[in-house]
Amino acid sequence: MRNLNEDNITRAVIAMHAQAKDARVQALMTSLVQHLHAFAREVELTEEEWFKGIQFLTDVGHITTEVRQEFILLSDTLGLSMLVTALNNKKPQGCTEATVFGPFHVEGSPQVPLGGDVANGAEGEPCYVRGSIVGTDGQPVPHAELQVWQADAAGNYDVQYARENGEHEHRARATLNADAHGDFHFKTIRAEAYPIPHDGPVGKMLEALGRHPWRPAHLHFMISAPGFERLITHVFRNGDRYLDSDAVFGVRSSLIADWIEHPPGATPDGGTSAVPFYTLDFRFVLNPVAAPTAARATATPRKVSA
Ligand code: BEZ
Ligand code: FE
Repeated sequence: MRNLNEDNITRAVIAMHAQAKDARVQALMTSLVQHLHAFAREVELTEEEWFKGIQFLTDVGHITTEVRQEFILLSDTLGLSMLVTALNNKKPQGCTEATVFGPFHVEGSPQVPLGGDVANGAEGEPCYVRGSIVGTDGQPVPHAELQVWQADAAGNYDVQYARENGEHEHRARATLNADAHGDFHFKTIRAEAYPIPHDGPVGKMLEALGRHPWRPAHLHFMISAPGFERLITHVFRNGDRYLDSDAVFGVRSSLIADWIEHPPGATPDGGTSAVPFYTLDFRFVLNPVAAPTAARATATPRKVSA
């Protein structure tokens, strides 16, 4: 193939995918090439603009580390993460909706008993969270695992205080198990609005677009229980000024709840607080895993390596 021009180069590239080993890879890359080429044609991309784009992606790569995932941030701020979440989490009416995962989840957060302190020294106003986990039939989901994580009063996650060696304290994140009735409660700090990391190329992009980097105050949850789809979501704080301009497009009305302010005094855990404190109550509705179809149920299970 020679003498390719703007009219036939797209077909030529796609034809080269004919020998792809994996049909899904072929489909994904073919569609990606079609859309990329269509974009370049539509905006009449100049060579200078093309090179600026290359430089931008290079910068995104350079700033990315184990604890700073600028590519995810890019996907988040372009709405791609929320689009993929929406495409893959269509649930029946009444189920708790999913939202973006974000870059600050950490595997293996400390196990905290019900009623325990999730903040573990993170700065912030005291907050007592309680709630329940049910299925779509309203029946409790016993012993579901909850992973929770949130930013502190300064708007930072614990991983953003990582030491040179990449280690960090686990603060304002924990794993808990609901009780036999699907109920849970823990102590933490009040969620605050915070800006996503914006001192890198994504921050420059937002600035160029006249966009702010703020996320409305929220608490992250990942909830898992046998027989139910895993739920990755947030609960957002009612009244937050950024609810309608979240930098990563993650807000859903059904996920907004009241953080109720209380004067100093008796707290829900039977103690006393010398400062005002907050309470939050939220019910999560999980989607049962679809029953396998007859064909699938009788298929030979695929061997899973350890
Ligand atoms: C978060 O909520 O933790 C988050 C989500 C997307 C980008 C940055 C942070
Ligand atoms: Fe967050």
